[in-house]
Amino acid sequence: MAQLWGGRFTKKTDDLVKKFNDSLPYDRRLYPQDIRGSIVHATMLGKQGIISDEEMRAIVSGLSGILHDIDSGKLPFTDEYEDIHSFVEANLIDRIGDAGKKLHTGRSRNDQVALDMKMYVRDEISEIRELLKSFLTEVVTVMEQNIDTFMPGFTHLQKAQPVTLAHHMGAYFEMFRRDRERLSDIAERMDLCPLGSGALAGTTYPLDRNFTARELGFNGPCRNSMDGVSDRDYLIEFLDALAICQMHLSRFSEEIIIWNSNEYRFVELDDAYSTGSSIMPQKKNPDIAELARGKTGRIYGALASILTTMKGIPLAYDKDMQEDKEMTFDAIDTVKTELPLFTDMIRTMRFRPEIMEASAKNGFTNATDAADYLVTKGVPFRDAHGIIGRMVLYCIDKSKALDDLSLEEFRQFSEKFDEDIYDAISLKTCVEKRLTTGAPSHQAMVDEIRACRDYLG
Ligand code: ARG
Repeated sequence: MAQLWGGRFTKKTDDLVKKFNDSLPYDRRLYPQDIRGSIVHATMLGKQGIISDEEMRAIVSGLSGILHDIDSGKLPFTDEYEDIHSFVEANLIDRIGDAGKKLHTGRSRNDQVALDMKMYVRDEISEIRELLKSFLTEVVTVMEQNIDTFMPGFTHLQKAQPVTLAHHMGAYFEMFRRDRERLSDIAERMDLCPLGSGALAGTTYPLDRNFTARELGFNGPCRNSMDGVSDRDYLIEFLDALAICQMHLSRFSEEIIIWNSNEYRFVELDDAYSTGSSIMPQKKNPDIAELARGKTGRIYGALASILTTMKGIPLAYDKDMQEDKEMTFDAIDTVKTELPLFTDMIRTMRFRPEIMEASAKNGFTNATDAADYLVTKGVPFRDAHGIIGRMVLYCIDKSKALDDLSLEEFRQFSEKFDEDIYDAISLKTCVEKRLTTGAPSHQAMVDEIRACRDYLG
């Protein structure tokens, strides 16, 4: 018996319809959740006297056998079944006979699939949080090693003010930390069990929904059965969190690509994380970062897809909701592949402090500090800004950095300049004077890195 619902039909389903309607080709990955949900449901039915103890035991052991056989590959998925729920139930009935036919008492595939997907996402959230933790551990390691590695900070991709590599990586630490926290917020909000909602209106059997929820590790049962079968908000939030995380990975990729370019040479990707060209022998391309940047479209697509699918659905369950799976699975697989790749890519990447520092020195990144110097000598900031602006023009003309000018040259622009200007605009001073919380100075970063390590536990 491949179908669960043949009774009221006189004709066989059209082949194309079956193919279009079936979800087993992709929802098969929900089998551990589906079986676990069924085991708890059957246990609850037994406890409530809705089925006998003997039936309950037969169901539980039959389901455990199915789980074991799927795990070991002994029980293959065959495409006569519509979805994972039909597959498991039909197999159970084949194995244990009539008792198996009682499993679906007080339950619908609508609350069943709502449960399966929620448990699946809950498991994935904890796995992705762990992957993010490993990634953050690598980020903080780079920070620790580069507290005094000066580099230019950019705005508009133009050199702006000097920072350190630790500070720059610290910005990514914050982004991916928020991604992790966003995931735990979602896990907390979605922690209500839909099983027991039935098709939409609950059931007439005396189910113990609190028991089911507790046994399945939820905080409690969902509070409205129509919402229980049709809520996909948590999936939208989850895909939103993945989309943001992917956006961060994409920005990070973009910087790696720029930094790894011949013009920048701030980093060199390890051979194992680069690819070559079939025609140009000299090439070593950052394909992994580019591909990750490119995959952003899929994840945004998954989010746009589910938002669109859900927007016009009347309460309660409609088959449209089956579309919640494929792209979600794809988004999960994509992020779960990328995070370990990035963790290893930054671990093996060679940073080039000397090139970063030279770049910070020759791009007038200390111009703001030079203006601030004049302010300390009593020049109003707006005037100081104008003076340094003219000096930058002069330096560009002479192909010099501000630091290269003689004191006489400084004084041609303002009488206020003294010997101490050189120290005031050195890279080290520029960074070290930025002491406030969140700024790049050595001490601020040491404090910050300690807090990052505490967070990672
Ligand atoms: N495969 C379906 C899904 O993923 C399971 C629920 C089917 N329910 C129904 N009434 N047809 O949504």
